[in-house]
Amino acid sequence: MLPSTLLLFLLFPFCRSVGTIGPNQYVKDGDTIVSKEIKFELGFFSPGNSSYRYVGIWYAKVPQKPVVWVANREKPITDSSGVLKINRNGSLVLFADNKENLVIWSTKISGKTNSSGTSVQLLDTGNLVLVQGENSDDVLWQSFDYPTDTMLPGMKLGLNREVQLNSFLTSWKSQDDPGTGDFSYRLNSTGSPEFFLYNGSTRYWRSGSWPWRNISVSTSHSNPFIFVNNQVETYIIDSAHNTSELSRYVVNYHGTLQRLTWNDIESQWKEIWAAPKYPCDQYGECGAFSTCSPDNIQGLKCTCLPGYEPRSFEDWYQGDGSDGCVSKQPQVSKCENGGFKVVQNVKLPDASISAWMDTKMSAAACKRACLRNCSCLAYSSLEIEGGSGCLAWYGELMDILLFAEEGSDFYVRVDSSELGTCFLF
Ligand SMILES: *[C@@H]1O[C@H](CO)[C@@H](O)[C@H](O)[C@H]1NC(C)=O
Ligand SMILES: *[C@@H]1O[C@H](CO)[C@@H](O)[C@H](O)[C@H]1NC(C)=O
Ligand SMILES: *[C@@H]1O[C@H](CO)[C@@H](O)[C@H](O)[C@H]1NC(C)=O
Ligand SMILES: *[C@@H]1O[C@H](CO)[C@@H](O)[C@H](O)[C@H]1NC(C)=O
Ligand SMILES: *[C@@H]1O[C@H](CO)[C@@H](O)[C@H](O)[C@H]1NC(C)=O
Ligand SMILES: *[C@@H]1O[C@H](CO)[C@@H](O)[C@H](O)[C@H]1NC(C)=O
Ligand SMILES: *[C@@H]1O[C@H](CO)[C@@H](O)[C@H](O)[C@H]1NC(C)=O
Ligand SMILES: *[C@@H]1O[C@H](CO)[C@@H](O)[C@H](O)[C@H]1NC(C)=O
Repeated sequence: MLPSTLLLFLLFPFCRSVGTIGPNQYVKDGDTIVSKEIKFELGFFSPGNSSYRYVGIWYAKVPQKPVVWVANREKPITDSSGVLKINRNGSLVLFADNKENLVIWSTKISGKTNSSGTSVQLLDTGNLVLVQGENSDDVLWQSFDYPTDTMLPGMKLGLNREVQLNSFLTSWKSQDDPGTGDFSYRLNSTGSPEFFLYNGSTRYWRSGSWPWRNISVSTSHSNPFIFVNNQVETYIIDSAHNTSELSRYVVNYHGTLQRLTWNDIESQWKEIWAAPKYPCDQYGECGAFSTCSPDNIQGLKCTCLPGYEPRSFEDWYQGDGSDGCVSKQPQVSKCENGGFKVVQNVKLPDASISAWMDTKMSAAACKRACLRNCSCLAYSSLEIEGGSGCLAWYGELMDILLFAEEGSDFYVRVDSSELGTCFLF
């Protein structure tokens, strides 16, 4: 008898078995399977006050057992007749009422495999994998590719162009309903790739211009994302290498992206980072062509960029900067007789709107490229993996934050009348 089969027998009275679902095994409501080191558990659950049944994965050892992934989030089972098994085609399927043909949820791997020897394993990372054979690295499907509202260490969030997969987080509807809610955290790869928190289709918070820096600009809040961007993949991954620490990112149903870690001493989850949190965090708080300053103590957090003035002076001086700013001079005069003014320590504008990028260009060449084209409104030259790259904007400059320190240098095209001070470039 194999050790794993033995364990299965030993644990059977508790309806909790270790690790794997093979071709002739199934998990019914009430049973669970746990990962090898008992870090995560998979089974049926009812969230909050709901009586509906869902298949999910949760932390096995932590008191509140927070759910990190849900299979049938849109299609709850109304009673306890749910069964999870591997079907003849080698897919993991969920059905109820003994109606195996009425599939409620399944891993979609059609065409890729057949019945001969797929198995499902719950790993200690919290990843549920469907593999060819018992102990294979040949992963046909994994839950990490189809996240719910939670990002665990080791999970990639973003785009894989080779397999045409874009994975992103979406909030639950409420505490009682894991169905797809309004908020999502996802990559927009138009222009320079950036991650956005959306409320429906509206931008709600922006993580900062891509990968020029490993750490998101708001480093003071210890947000340990690592950005990776190459021809095949563009993703973020939680760099938390301390595997003894339990850590997760969640888009909650209030629309906040949180990083939570488990505190053993206080025996509770602690929020150690969250966004949006401060007034300037909200996307477009100060409108276009304007900066938002979280450190401004004088009440007016919005400031127009050099060469721009408030669109609506009245609202502006009453503290509502959401209309943004407009250029004082026509663009042509800036092109004929102008230059650039630097604004330091900024979170660069949204680069998915009319931005242009070159990952290998010197600062001088970047400036020349912007000067050459009269529609170019601003540029920034940035360090990227030892060299330098160029980012230039041709449309609305949105969502610029001004920090007390850190951040990037940002060059705004201005008329000659704006030049001639110590800011002269
Ligand atoms: C469940 O319902 C009770 C009573 O209506 C309420 O007090 C409690 O907050 C609810 N819990 C959840 C998790 O929704
Ligand atoms: C197996 O796959 C075939 C072809 O995609 C499909 O017609 C059939 O319904 C599947 N069988 C099950 C049990 O899902
Ligand atoms: C199923 O896969 C095995 C090996 O992976 C292969 O030998 C067998 O012919 C396949 N069966 C069918 C019906 O495609
Ligand atoms: C990315 O941003 C562009 C420009 O704002 C927008 O048109 C597009 O729909 C966005 N794509 C996604 C996938 O959200
Ligand atoms: C999300 O958008 C909806 C509809 O526009 C709005 O009513 C709601 O207040 C927004 N939520 C947040 C947290 O901004
Ligand atoms: C890893 O996390 C655990 C639990 O939070 C903590 O006790 C330990 O000091 C951490 N180790 C390192 C090297 O940061
Ligand atoms: C200026 O740049 C814009 C945006 O990249 C481009 O559409 C336009 O053709 C350029 N104009 C010239 C004269 O190069
Ligand atoms: C980010 O950090 C990782 C690991 O420290 C490194 O491999 C990668 O090259 C860095 N990326 C950039 C853009 O600097």
